[in-house]
Amino acid sequence: MKKTGVFLAALCLAASANAQMHQMEVNTKKLGAAVQPTMYGIFFEDINFAADGGLYGELIKNRSFEFTPDHLMGWDAFGKVEVKNDGPFDKNPYYVHLTSAGHRDMWTGLQNEGYFGIGLEKDAEYKFSVWARVPDGKPQTLWIQFVDQHTMGEHQEFSTADIKVDSKEWKKYSCTIKSSRTIDKANVRILMVDDEHHRSGTGSVDLEHISLFPADVFHGDENGMRKDLAQALADLHPGVFRFPGGCIVEGTTLEQRYQWKNSVGPVENRPTNKNRWENTFTYRYYADYFQSYGLGFYEYFRLSEEIGAEPLPVLSVGLACEFQNGSKRSDAHVPVDQLQPYIDDVLDLIEFANGDPSKNVWAKLRADMGHPAPFNLKFVAIGNEQWDEIYPENLKPFVEQVRAKYPDIKIIGTSGPDSEGKQFDYLWPEMKKIGADLVDEHFYRPEDWFLSQGNRYDNYDRKGPHVFAGEYACHGRGKKWNHFNAALLEAAFMTGMERNADVVDMATYAPLFAHIDGWQWRPDMIWYDNLRSFRSCSYYVQQLFSRNKGSNVLSLTMNGKPVAGNDDQDGLFASAVFEKESNSVIVKVVNTGDKAQSINVNLNGLSGVTSAELTTFNSPDLTGENTLDEPEKIVPKTSKVTIQSSGKNTAWAYNIPAKTFAMLKVSK
Ligand code: AHR
Repeated sequence: MKKTGVFLAALCLAASANAQMHQMEVNTKKLGAAVQPTMYGIFFEDINFAADGGLYGELIKNRSFEFTPDHLMGWDAFGKVEVKNDGPFDKNPYYVHLTSAGHRDMWTGLQNEGYFGIGLEKDAEYKFSVWARVPDGKPQTLWIQFVDQHTMGEHQEFSTADIKVDSKEWKKYSCTIKSSRTIDKANVRILMVDDEHHRSGTGSVDLEHISLFPADVFHGDENGMRKDLAQALADLHPGVFRFPGGCIVEGTTLEQRYQWKNSVGPVENRPTNKNRWENTFTYRYYADYFQSYGLGFYEYFRLSEEIGAEPLPVLSVGLACEFQNGSKRSDAHVPVDQLQPYIDDVLDLIEFANGDPSKNVWAKLRADMGHPAPFNLKFVAIGNEQWDEIYPENLKPFVEQVRAKYPDIKIIGTSGPDSEGKQFDYLWPEMKKIGADLVDEHFYRPEDWFLSQGNRYDNYDRKGPHVFAGEYACHGRGKKWNHFNAALLEAAFMTGMERNADVVDMATYAPLFAHIDGWQWRPDMIWYDNLRSFRSCSYYVQQLFSRNKGSNVLSLTMNGKPVAGNDDQDGLFASAVFEKESNSVIVKVVNTGDKAQSINVNLNGLSGVTSAELTTFNSPDLTGENTLDEPEKIVPKTSKVTIQSSGKNTAWAYNIPAKTFAMLKVSK
């Protein structure tokens, strides 16, 4: 018997020994649709204290005294402290005027609580800075202290530095402080003192934009990002980076919408805005949730570049959040004939990102901020979750003007907030009519929805806009956390996106970040407190897909059909891709069922291979999840396996355990 015959006989024997053996066929010789480089990305929104208090490195809350109505929110003031509003930064005019208490035995100063405290690491350095002046010209010493108010020891302060303010004019003063302790909820105290650190009996000083950053931020950037969180993004190898929202793009009111022009230029003069997630859920209310815009559009573009993702900004279409306002309120809806400033925001943004600094003021600003080279923006999304006729009406002039000036820029419209239904059915054809390049779909849905959607994209119109699954997550019933089963079902669903790479161009899980003490929405991909972070099970699913997305789809069938968890498929989902770079075939199989399943994946046309890498992701407890204390409780495991190769074919026979995501990577 020839070798191939022995091989096939062995497989038939294996199949007859186990009636449940599922024969899957992969054609490794015929490359299918190209997988877009944008596939599997990230979506950042300042929800759950994701920006200030999260990814953005700033540790001081309300650094510019602009929170309203209480300009001292986040600060404890003692002695004689007055809030004034004729400061040096016209868009952030508030500052504090400190006068010595007038008695040697009384302090004047301020103390900041940070975002749920300030996290400091032992021996790490922190950069403190403040804009200050001494109005009477008499030099004044500031004693900067890291303090632990809950210490059982004698001294609350544990690391300190002095700053001498010596000018009548506003000036920036800086110092570096090394922390002698690791502490997750420190405060920063600023005292007016004399040269011996005694209470200052005379004088006054004005303080504005008080800031503290870890010296060690991601990529060592000025105005940089918290390292562990940015690294978690880089480790995903994301294809696209959607920002800055979500609902915050729209705003509760038009006035509160995200205006990117307010988020660029010197950080001191970026006007603070209320965060629309401050009061969205009454059971998670944060009166002190504002946006400093310290993490603004320049920083988003820079981060996209650093993590290798295509930037994808979302801009307002002139409609405030329709969830909160409906689609009929005139004060939440800019009429078409008044849309030009909003359209200009899009056109100017394209210049800010890509323009020539010698020809355009916005491009010049980008260069002045430190990036003369273009950011190579290729996509803009206009509108977030919009619906009813007012959306296409408003979108049309944006599309016309962007197309006329920047024909290469791809425009992303939306199909509204629902995964199907009236608005979805109305908006998709409207987006096609308008000529959107992609349509942003959102689905936060329960387990059964994810299980039923394996074929979602199989019959999508191939002649219309492509799909951007811009926000999605499996919201497990009862326990809306990041438990393993939700992540497993996301993986099952994602095989359907992967099989349909000819129409699905990008997908981003949502939301991305959540502070354990300050969340409004869960599940989320990455959680953190002030010092630690952990990657959820959903993170690992995203990472497995993103880092193994391949370059071309390969057809994978079982009994001649796509493997999409259909009735006769025992809860199995599967997809296969070819990865040019490593000359590998990658097969992903998800068993969502309660029983192990025998599979035999025939890699037709692949020969001479005997070993491969198998990655499995499962959990003994379906509701298990990673936590700050056990960040790596549930992680994928990779091992070498032998596979059978004969003649022109190779086969992977595997008993995939119940509730398991398995991925085989065979390098030719
Ligand atoms: O991701 C949280 C929110 O969900 C987004 O802001 C919005 O687009 C969606 O409703």
